[in-house]
Amino acid sequence: MGKLFTKQSQAIFWNNNRSAIQRMLDYDYIIKRETPSVAGIVAPTSSNKFDKFFYGGDEIMIPLYKTTAQAKYAQPQADVLLNFASFRTAYDVTIEAINIGSFKTIMITAEGIPERLSRGMNAYAKSKKVVIIGPATVGGISPGAFKIANIGGTTQNIINSKLHRVGSCGLVTRSGGLFNELANIISINADGIAEGVAIGGDRFVGSVFIDNLLRMEQNPDVKYMLLLGEVGGTEEYKLINAIKKGLIKKPVIAWCIGTIAKHYDSGVQFGHAGASANDDAETAEAKNKAMREAGILVPKSFNDLPEVINGAYKELHGEGIIGDIVEPEINVIPENRRSKNFICTISDDRGEEATYAGFPISSVATPQTGKTIGDVVSLLWFKKQYPKWATDFIETVMKTVADHGPAVSGAHNAKVTARAGKSVVESLVTGLLTIGPRFGGAIDGAAKYFKYANDKKLTPKEFLDYMKKEGVPIPGIGHRIKSLKNPDLRVTGLMKYAKEHFPATSLLDYARTIEALTTSKKENLILNVDGTIGILMVDMWRALGYSENEIDEFIESGTLNAFFIVGRSIGFIGHILDEKRLSMPMYRHPMDDILYSLPEN
Ligand code: ACO
Ligand code: LMR
Repeated sequence: MGKLFTKQSQAIFWNNNRSAIQRMLDYDYIIKRETPSVAGIVAPTSSNKFDKFFYGGDEIMIPLYKTTAQAKYAQPQADVLLNFASFRTAYDVTIEAINIGSFKTIMITAEGIPERLSRGMNAYAKSKKVVIIGPATVGGISPGAFKIANIGGTTQNIINSKLHRVGSCGLVTRSGGLFNELANIISINADGIAEGVAIGGDRFVGSVFIDNLLRMEQNPDVKYMLLLGEVGGTEEYKLINAIKKGLIKKPVIAWCIGTIAKHYDSGVQFGHAGASANDDAETAEAKNKAMREAGILVPKSFNDLPEVINGAYKELHGEGIIGDIVEPEINVIPENRRSKNFICTISDDRGEEATYAGFPISSVATPQTGKTIGDVVSLLWFKKQYPKWATDFIETVMKTVADHGPAVSGAHNAKVTARAGKSVVESLVTGLLTIGPRFGGAIDGAAKYFKYANDKKLTPKEFLDYMKKEGVPIPGIGHRIKSLKNPDLRVTGLMKYAKEHFPATSLLDYARTIEALTTSKKENLILNVDGTIGILMVDMWRALGYSENEIDEFIESGTLNAFFIVGRSIGFIGHILDEKRLSMPMYRHPMDDILYSLPEN
């Protein structure tokens, strides 16, 4: 209770600020977090899906998302947003995140958000019970649990300032630089901090001093608090009132910087936008005096602060309120970390036996395992063990398309190549290179267009009109020799399997309505084997629970044609071996089968 972050807190980081993210992950590693504190990164202009970062000596992949909504959808457990957008976009990013909901804390680093917008944003966040840290801040830290971006500085500085484990001081400052300085002073004169927040330098920040101090009052790890206020504003008086009302009972040490201002003739604007006294009560002098009178431990000068901290710590320690800290073991970040050039997420050959998506080869390879090529494909292509109805379907598809005789374009090319004396692999590749939008390679296209039309709920006529505008024949429709009268029994077989074993076949049912229209125009414009496979694979993935985005990605990357490529390789190799076995001579096409039509000279 009362804790800003825990060791389980995870953030979505808005903007791929690599060095700040790496610092967070280094911190996570040092303190031995089980999960990285950054669950995802919003990188609107990146086309990458992830970025690699070090986690100790190893690397981990952190997913990238285009929008906060996508990131939150994929990482619902991440309830902290680290908004590193520029001052031009930080407001919109914050409002959007509040509207998405279930962010508990939003930290805003940008300096210079127009004050009118900041005020509205802060009030809106408060109404939605979202804690805003900033704008214009380096953030906050719960030592031993979660650290925002660059707060605390370098790893060495963090360890020196004992920010790697829980201490007993609750620290609140405006400035990040002074935060680090004080963390260091506290580590020397006491036992470090339990929670710390630099609230930010803008005139209108989201959570103000008192919000943080009231929360720390509830945090059992915080035994006393230290507030570093500054000239300007009246926030320190709220602390005095809270103490008077009994809302804050833990000892508080405070100092307001800016006492030098009295030595200038006119009002001085210090570094922060809010650091300027508008009347006497806002001077550092007046605030220090009022706080002292309210029983707050206020040193005579900043130089005396360490002594006051030490005194308070010793007293609380003497009373047994602060116990002794057993220094935890920390991980040490190895030197000479090396980034890896390649990533593999499907198989691993480092152990005694290689694995397919975690399954040792022997657990899928032999007949006793009951596993099929369909299982191996599901593991190596999709990194999952699909259920039997799906792996059986995959296997059925591959067996179904293994060959369609010597006359089809790919087999013909493979045979001609073999007869030219080329090797199995060269002849096979020639056959494979024939696979394309007209022959065997229309599966992804069919899935794409039929899925699109189905998603948009186009009628068959609207779909045909749409494809006419696209200027391409409908992938998956039409066959050179198969027709309504001469049906393709492979298609019938696959459809029968799906009807009997798939939980649902909504895209197939839709595609049949298209086929009814195309075959009414021309009887060979049937749903062909490519089309049937593409459409049924979408139905399969939908039934397996993939999101529409994931299915679209499979299609975009050409996954579906791969089923034909693997299946038909079996047939091509058969034809090539046939040629070799028969020792067939080189093939020359008969000239009388060619229409020669050349320009007359
Ligand atoms: N969508 C719309 N109209 C089509 C389609 C189609 N997919 N296929 C053929 N037509 C029309 C043509 O526009 C043409 O019309 P027209 O007579 O008014 O000019 C007529 O049908 C004949 O066209 P061809 O290209 O000569 O058709 P053919 O029957 O020889 O072609 C082919 C067969 C290449 C498969 C063709 O139907 C096609 O391109 N289909 C789409 C691609 C595809 O699915 N390929 C995979 C086939 S299965 C396999 O290879 C394993
Ligand atoms: C095939 O599977 O190769 C055929 O559908 C193509 C064809 O031309 O018969």
